[in-house]
Amino acid sequence: MGVQRQAGIRVLLAGATGLVGGHCLRKLLADDDIGQVTALVRRPLEQAHPKLTVRVVDFDHLRDQAGTIDADAVLCCLGTTHRAAGSPEAFAKVDHIYVAELAKLAAARGVARFVLVSAIGADPGSPVFYNRVKGRAEAAVSELPFKAVHLLRPSLLLGERSESRPVEDWSKQMAPFWSLFAWGPFSHYRPVPAETVAARMVELAKSELEGIHIHYFKG
Ligand SMILES: NC(=O)c1ccc[n+]([C@@H]2O[C@H](COP(=O)([O-])OP(=O)(O)OC[C@H]3O[C@@H](n4cnc5c(N)ncnc54)[C@H](OP(=O)(O)O)[C@@H]3O)[C@@H](O)[C@H]2O)c1
Repeated sequence: MGVQRQAGIRVLLAGATGLVGGHCLRKLLADDDIGQVTALVRRPLEQAHPKLTVRVVDFDHLRDQAGTIDADAVLCCLGTTHRAAGSPEAFAKVDHIYVAELAKLAAARGVARFVLVSAIGADPGSPVFYNRVKGRAEAAVSELPFKAVHLLRPSLLLGERSESRPVEDWSKQMAPFWSLFAWGPFSHYRPVPAETVAARMVELAKSELEGIHIHYFKG
């Protein structure tokens, strides 16, 4: 993992109010190799730090605020659920369209690295809608001229949420049994702490590795 510039690496973080994004934010601010963090959020963030700039943006009109995208690396932790978004289309707008638009603007503004939390099973040709949306987002990012694209494909994320998500809550209760049987080629299906995913993202923000890379987790 290489470290660049005296002033530190400049990171733009989308999704800082979320589970993975929140861990990313804390880790970025605590990391001496990171010189500047810009959080793109849709609602104000109650946090102040000398390295942190918070930009409240409308993701439907991100292009109008492209000037806020000025970084060496983008960490994208955007995402929603069908339940929260209200419809499959609204879900796809956040998990695919917003991600693709952010990546397009970032590439145009010379960002070197794009690090995206996607999901296990992401595949643009999948018969499963969720996996298809995630796959389309990955494909949109991968076709852009970044020096490096990192696609992280975690299984179920573990961590404390303020909101209740019944399917996830049930899956978390089953997590120990799930992990027991997820061996060999299935080990990528083990639930993984959101903090582990965030730690990998921050490392990748600092990495000089070039090309497109897919990252799995083994719990
Ligand atoms: N949950 C899992 O088990 C799981 C498993 C594998 C992969 N993933 C994927 O991992 C990624 C991160 O997951 P997470 O659990 O950390 O997500 P999360 O806690 O739900 O956070 C999502 C982030 O996206 C933002 N967001 C949602 N809707 C938005 C909108 N309409 N406009 C602007 N911002 C919006 C949220 O902002 P607000 O706080 O303002 O809502 C929040 O910052 C997601 O892409 C998810 O699909 C999740």
